[in-house]
Amino acid sequence: MTIALDGRQLLMQRLEDLRRIPTIPAVLTPLLRYLEQPVEKLDVQKLTDFLAQDESLAAQCLQLANSPLFGRWQQVQSLRAAVISLGFNQVGDIAMSCGILKILPGRNGGLDPVIFWEHSLGCALVARHLANKIDFEDPGKAYLAGLLHDVGIIVNLWLLPDEFRAAYDIATHEGIPLHEAEQQSMGFTHCDSGRLLAERWGFAPSLIEVVAHHHSPQESSPATELIALVHIADLLCRMSGLNHGYVEARQVNFLSDAGFSLLARNHASLKHFDWARLTFEVGSYLDEVHSLVRTIYRS
Ligand SMILES: [Fe+2]
Ligand SMILES: [Fe+2]
Repeated sequence: MTIALDGRQLLMQRLEDLRRIPTIPAVLTPLLRYLEQPVEKLDVQKLTDFLAQDESLAAQCLQLANSPLFGRWQQVQSLRAAVISLGFNQVGDIAMSCGILKILPGRNGGLDPVIFWEHSLGCALVARHLANKIDFEDPGKAYLAGLLHDVGIIVNLWLLPDEFRAAYDIATHEGIPLHEAEQQSMGFTHCDSGRLLAERWGFAPSLIEVVAHHHSPQESSPATELIALVHIADLLCRMSGLNHGYVEARQVNFLSDAGFSLLARNHASLKHFDWARLTFEVGSYLDEVHSLVRTIYRS
């Protein structure tokens, strides 16, 4: 069923009330700006002080910092130790990851926030993993783009919980991708609502494009490697258990995927890419992401 055009317009109008969505914690904006400086200008104590301003953010960051997902096999006891051992950029990634957690609403739109966060974190890790494999210039950016790609779902959960729940029910019953169910029942997707929020929050243009086109890299202009990386990371996560809480009833052929073709054009090494191996590597993140997210979310 497709809703009438005026229904779509009414829903789109409700999206304009973006002020109702809590902003990312106040500490994160100056922190991320601080981290944009050349690394030689950064100071361990200053970064530690930034994080310490928000007690729960600091505690969550420490939990994440102690996870093998961030390469830690020895426990760190303090934020300062985490900054020293993980490095400035990884700590920025971790802070942003925990910041997203703070803006999730309760379970009012059908999709469990824990599952949403697992998918976002999984996508961030897989996008960074893939970025490193193809020597993408900025793996940290791939991580951030993976983390934020579905921010439109947060918008829909906050502003259109009943309509989003209906779309989510269709998606779970029919086993179709969430954006297809949203399009079918609301007339637009989380890519559209995400773009509104990304623009409102002043995301970098490259990130806005990821939010708007991660399900349709071929429609973005220009189609960037960053969008393709996140598109593939999203697909891999959806097919491997870091999904939106249900199994999609379809097979994906990565070799004929639009995002993969885009990357393969510039990276000859991908022509013989071992997808089975990558899928296996993604699978190794599963248990760690599940247990980490549940620990942090419930603490
Ligand atoms: Fe999405
Ligand atoms: Fe996604």
